[in-house]
Amino acid sequence: MPIKNKKLKFSTKTIHVGNKIDDTGATVTPLHLSSTFKQPGFSSSEKFVYSRTGGPTIDALEENFRMLENSKYSFAFGSGMAAMTAIFLMFKPGDHVLISKNVYGGVFRLVTKVLNDNGIKFEFVDTTDLELIKKSIKDNTKLIHLETPSNPLLELADIKSISKIAKQNDILVSVDNTFMSPYGQNPLDLGADIVMHSTTKFICGHSDILSGALMVNHDKSAEKITLIQNTGGALPSPFDAWLLLRSVKTLSLRVEKQFKNAEKIADWLDSHPKVSKVIFPGLKSHPQHDLALKQHSDPNGNPVFGSMISFELDESSNLDTFAENLEIITLAESLGGVKTLISCPYSMTHASVPKDEKEKLGITKNLLRISIGIEDVDDLISELDFAINH
Ligand SMILES: Cc1ncc(COP(=O)(O)O)c(C=O)c1O
Repeated sequence: MPIKNKKLKFSTKTIHVGNKIDDTGATVTPLHLSSTFKQPGFSSSEKFVYSRTGGPTIDALEENFRMLENSKYSFAFGSGMAAMTAIFLMFKPGDHVLISKNVYGGVFRLVTKVLNDNGIKFEFVDTTDLELIKKSIKDNTKLIHLETPSNPLLELADIKSISKIAKQNDILVSVDNTFMSPYGQNPLDLGADIVMHSTTKFICGHSDILSGALMVNHDKSAEKITLIQNTGGALPSPFDAWLLLRSVKTLSLRVEKQFKNAEKIADWLDSHPKVSKVIFPGLKSHPQHDLALKQHSDPNGNPVFGSMISFELDESSNLDTFAENLEIITLAESLGGVKTLISCPYSMTHASVPKDEKEKLGITKNLLRISIGIEDVDDLISELDFAINH
């Protein structure tokens, strides 16, 4: 039974939407592992037929996903990259796609090494620059894909203004919202057509599920993605879908604490003499701090800035020694989980981006990216202080 009270707030809905109590009375959504479903007759068209097309657990998760981003349609995938691939598979040879120049390394690799020979013309642009976007639009431009905040430089794209420009030119806008999570930014409400999440990150929150999602408001795109999801078969397993439904229940609690911890740590890093640069949208020094104030907000409308911070240690610091002195902060790729993780984008997440491209973008060898977790903030600061000073 769908939830009748439409006025419920975000944190209540994360717990209840997709988590209906069925005839058994179980208070937790059941896990249906079946790969195929009994049909009443040879020519019937039941809701569930074969699990590549969908099943009860995935269906419950997709209902929850629609709530997270206020979308009309939603699609669960086995990874963020599978979701990303589904977006690009909607287009055909000759179509032109504008894409944020500073995207996750895996998306860069997908575009430049896998899809580059398939006839779609991908063009990387600085999506912080509205005039440049206008100038880059061609007659065959079909999509503007934004990653905002971007990985790892935390550049912001103005979703509302870009969506307006796109609508005037009959172009779709997709947004990779992985870095803010649905708790901190809702691109569809700002006019975008498609939202993508690597749900491996904040939505899972415990670094134990690889998965992705698309939330869509544009009818024709939803039709195409339904076909791609069903045919390509890159769905998460029912067990992962069930785990995600459990994870979403604590999304608000986790992310609120992560965002608060990050604000304190960004301020602290900013005043540390051995830290030469701090990039965090919540700092007044961030070139797009004003846009962050407009574009990011928690479900109650308060400004939020995420829990990703990038920073550079000064030249006298040795990154390896710094990493060796970390104990609770783990040197690992990925982000958005309860456990604080640190990585060096140059040699890790963005290893597939050519050296001169990285230098042009500003991804330097001593740039570190930290994903703040929910540990006690004093413990995180004291460990960072110890590692930086040694
Ligand atoms: C911004 C962003 N988009 C997409 C992805 C890809 O997601 P996944 O690793 O779930 O395939 C990542 C992974 O780190 C990411 O950081």
